Amino acid sequence: MPKIAINGKEIDVPVGTLVLDACKNVGIDIPHYCYHPALTPVATCRMCMVEIKGMPKLATSCTTTVGPAPKDQPDSLVMEIFTDSPQVADARAGVMEFLLMNHPLDCPICDQAGECKLQDYSYTYGSGDSRMHEAKRRYRYEDLGGKIVIDKNRCIHCTRCIRFTQEISGGSELTVAQRGANLEVTTYSGKSLDSNPYAANVVDICPVGALTSRDFRFKKRVWYLTAVPSICRESALAAPVWIDHEGNQIHRMRPRPIDDRKETHFISDRERYSYKHYNLQDRPSQIIKQQDGTISEIFTQAMQALTAVVAQGTIGCDAAQKVAECASSPSHLYGSGDLRLPIDLAHLQKETDGIINRKGLEQRGFRFGQLESLKAQIAQGHIKTVILVHDQSVSSEEETALLMQILKTATTSIVFEVLQSELGKLATLWLPMTSYVEENDFVININGEICRYQKVLKAPDGCNTLVHWMQCLRSSSLVSTAS
Ligand code: SF4
Ligand code: FES
Repeated sequence: MPKIAINGKEIDVPVGTLVLDACKNVGIDIPHYCYHPALTPVATCRMCMVEIKGMPKLATSCTTTVGPAPKDQPDSLVMEIFTDSPQVADARAGVMEFLLMNHPLDCPICDQAGECKLQDYSYTYGSGDSRMHEAKRRYRYEDLGGKIVIDKNRCIHCTRCIRFTQEISGGSELTVAQRGANLEVTTYSGKSLDSNPYAANVVDICPVGALTSRDFRFKKRVWYLTAVPSICRESALAAPVWIDHEGNQIHRMRPRPIDDRKETHFISDRERYSYKHYNLQDRPSQIIKQQDGTISEIFTQAMQALTAVVAQGTIGCDAAQKVAECASSPSHLYGSGDLRLPIDLAHLQKETDGIINRKGLEQRGFRFGQLESLKAQIAQGHIKTVILVHDQSVSSEEETALLMQILKTATTSIVFEVLQSELGKLATLWLPMTSYVEENDFVININGEICRYQKVLKAPDGCNTLVHWMQCLRSSSLVSTAS
């Protein structure tokens, strides 16, 4: 590997490494706006400039790569890079001054405040002064459809959002119009971002507050939010996300990029807005039973008969393991959930399975697509009790109808749900459980990777994790609070 020196420190890097990445590898963060690891570099902002010995001018580190060493001198230094020279500092201050020429000082009302690269770099690399006496240009904010609002006053023309719609989501809805000082980012006339299922990613990749989310705009200052690393359970990819919460409420879900994995930089809008399903602090949390006796008595009596367990493929592996212990035989474990997803981002995400933990459940003996056989076994009297861990959102109407028939035919049915569904109303015993943001567990995604999630919100009193319910029920330590 060729040898380079960064501020005098020598390292070996593979041929073709971007200078910006090489600096990052040795802990030097090069300021940048237009560069994004998942997009084609265009070197328009000029913020990432570094000095390279032998080059007549400063070079953009987002487009300069390390070449091979000469064959006759394989151990020689291929490149000497300086990121802290007076010329570099001068260039950065100059670029900041240009970028701020038309940028308004509206940080107190800007959603990006607190996570804005313009604020951060201006503070670290700016001159603190402006020679701009002319009036700044003015635009009124515009809706780019129902999801995104653009404030062109703040745009620094890095074109990240445009490249995203061209290279990643593919709809090319955004473009630049006009020239020179009148340059503006806009949609092709008549186009909105509404039909783009990945549109809200432009808000994340905009390094300033020009593109804002209608869903989050003016709702919360980001410094009040706590970000918890988690996953999104909307597909079998278990996309890594940050869950931003405050006051036992989730306010935002956004991608949690993992180095070298371009697909983790983006999530679909369906995934992003799914957090709304989990702000359920006011939900009913009473156990409901339709049989006389205490809850422990009903459960113990039910367990004495031949028992099958049906678990929706959205529960975690620890929960699946625990509930599987209730089945009379390993062959009495059934998985449910038949949701398929359209391919939204064909060249980055190809999977269409809508069941996040199908693999994890299969590894624990749950068999999917076998509910008809369970129904037949109940009809023949081979199974009397059915325990169902149910999540309505991942079953088709046909599968829900089949589950209903199963519950109606079983002698005893015990259903665990986050919110009681029509199906849950059929249960002999219904128990409220936590949603995935209220517990710690893990799933195995479609690629066989272990993906952990952790507790973000406190569940209402009375709602317990499946693991906790199982421990209580099996040790008969439950006090009857049922209605
Ligand atoms: S709107 Fe944001 S992402 Fe798009 S060009 Fe302007 S600054 Fe860059
Ligand atoms: S990040 Fe290199 S020129 Fe913009």
